[in-house]
Order: sequence, then C-alpha cells, then structure tokens
Amino acid sequence: MSKSRTKPTKKAAAKKAPELFAFKDLLSLKEATAADLEAIFKLAERMKKDPEAYQSKLKGRSLAILFQKPSMRTRVSFQVGMSQLGGSSVYMDPQEMPLGQRESIKDIARVLSRYCDAVVARTYSHGDVEEFSRWSSIPVINGLSDLYHPCQTLADLFTVREIFKTLQKINIAYIGDGNNVLSSLLYGVARVGANLSVATPRGYEPSEEVLRDIKLIVKETGAKITLSNNPFTAIKNAHAVYTDVWVSMGQEKQRDQRLRDFQPFQVNSAIIGKAPKDAVIMHCLPAHRGEEITEEAIEHPRSVIFTQAENRLHTQKALLLSLLTRKQKRG
Ligand code: CP
Ligand code: NVA
Repeated sequence: MSKSRTKPTKKAAAKKAPELFAFKDLLSLKEATAADLEAIFKLAERMKKDPEAYQSKLKGRSLAILFQKPSMRTRVSFQVGMSQLGGSSVYMDPQEMPLGQRESIKDIARVLSRYCDAVVARTYSHGDVEEFSRWSSIPVINGLSDLYHPCQTLADLFTVREIFKTLQKINIAYIGDGNNVLSSLLYGVARVGANLSVATPRGYEPSEEVLRDIKLIVKETGAKITLSNNPFTAIKNAHAVYTDVWVSMGQEKQRDQRLRDFQPFQVNSAIIGKAPKDAVIMHCLPAHRGEEITEEAIEHPRSVIFTQAENRLHTQKALLLSLLTRKQKRG
C-alpha cells in the first residue's frame, strides 16, 4: 500500500484528526499502519451491520476490474460491493485485455484513469501491478499478484478480529506454502500485533525480502512471527489454523513436485485434533479437497471459511469507500 500524505501544519493538525485511509494504492499491505488497518476494520464492521446506510455512497463512480488470472471471490465481491455502494464496475478478462499484448500497461492505465475512479488488477507478475500504479492517476488495488494478496489479508484479519474481538496476541498458525497469501498476511499480522506461526516445507519459506521487512515491523509492534517446518509445532496454542493451496495459479508445471513436498502439511483431523479445542479453521478458497485440506476440515463445526469469504465483500467495500472518498488528490 503506498500513500501520499501531506504533513499538516501545526494549526491544521490541532483541528484535524490524523488522516486515515490516505492510501494512494493498495499493492501489498507493506505500508499500512496498524491505525490504517483498524480504521478499515471499524468501517467494514459498520458496513456489515448496516449496509443500507452506505447504498449511495459511491453513486456515479466506477471500478475497472482487470484480471489476467481466473477469480470467483475477488471478482464477484468487488462487483457486488461496488453495486451495493451505488456505483458500477466493468470486468475485463485476459482474452479481452492481455496486459502488454494488445497494448502496453502504461497506455491501459492512463486510459482507464480517464473513464474510471479505481482499478482492481489481478496479474501474474507483481511488477505489472506496480507499473499500473505508476501510470494510473486513480487508486490501484492489487486483486492478487504472484507476490501478494492484500485484499485477502484484510478479510482474514477482519474475520479473526470479529471472532476473537481483538487481534492483539491472537495466534494464527499458517500451514503450507510461503506464497502471495502468506506474504500479505505476514505484513498484516506484523502490523496489528497478532502472532503468526508458519510451517512450510523446506524450500517453500516466504521470501527473504518479506522476512527482512517483517523483522523491522515486529520490533515496533511486538508481534511474534515464527517459522518452522513442522505443522504440529505451528498449531500449538493456535486460535486459528489457516491454509492455502499448494499449487498457486501459474505454478501448474510444479504440481507433481509440490504435491509430494507438501504431503505432511495437510490440514486434516490429525492437525485439528492436536490444535487447541477452540481453534477455528481458515482457508482463502478455492480449496483443493484432499490436497492442502480435507473435506472434514472444511466442513468442521469450527470452520469459518465461508464467513472469511463473505468478509471479502465487507472489507473491500470499506476499502473502496475509503479510497474513493479521500479528500487528498493523488499527485
Ligand atoms: N480467495 C480468492 O482470491 O479467491 P478467487 O481467486 O476466487 O478470487
Ligand atoms: N495462492 C493462491 C491464492 C488463490 C486465491 C494463488 O495464487 O493461486
């Protein structure tokens, strides 16, 4: 998330509360502060409780949805969310708008900026979303790239906060791949002061760059992040057990190798049986039953997977409202 904040004068600062939601874009969650995230969660909470109160807040505004990979949740929740706020959305699929093929990202970004008020982009390379953001004069939301999935983290942490009434010192165990979902979750957890215990197979840890950043953030916030290669170690004391697919979009060629390497990292009855009795089960979906998670785990009474999916809608509506109603113009 990059921001363009102007430093308020002393006089103005005394009159005005600090500006939250001052995001330029939502690209990774890297630059979000705990206050930014809490503000989004509070707004999402109000919007979930009373959606009618917000039904014309984005009247006449439009959202471009430019996707290079398939999507169900992200696409539908943004389209429905925008419509519930009184605005409209335009979906562009990879066939219609292959980034950099029919035309360059910088041209698409500048044209969409003349028609629309914000864009959600789902790309393979994270560099493409960054390039989009450089050329776009409207807010750019990363709807999943190879490196990050920040909108997923908003819903994940909102769900945990909703269930446990706080995020402080809540222990989330993430079992599986050190992928885009985990990278954004690491930033989010580190910022809000929760704890994340990660278990990946050797060689599938989160990137060095993300881990370096996280080390600095946890020094400020007191969040505890631990990495291991043992799922049973990770779930000790967990309030939530979270997993994602072993083969992300774009990694299909590695499928056979990954299925072998990840076998001991399945969220199943053995894992749930060893986790604390009140631990909830999370998955960002789509789920591959029999791979990273079993049918019993998805359908378990403590599975909150479908609430987590629902919360994509509420948190993204809060995000859209925040980004599209900022007073500050982007530079
Ligand atoms: N969780 C998620 O982003 O789902 P989709 O890929 O269906 O959008
Ligand atoms: N890690 C997965 C998340 C899907 C929502 C992928 O990138 O395919």
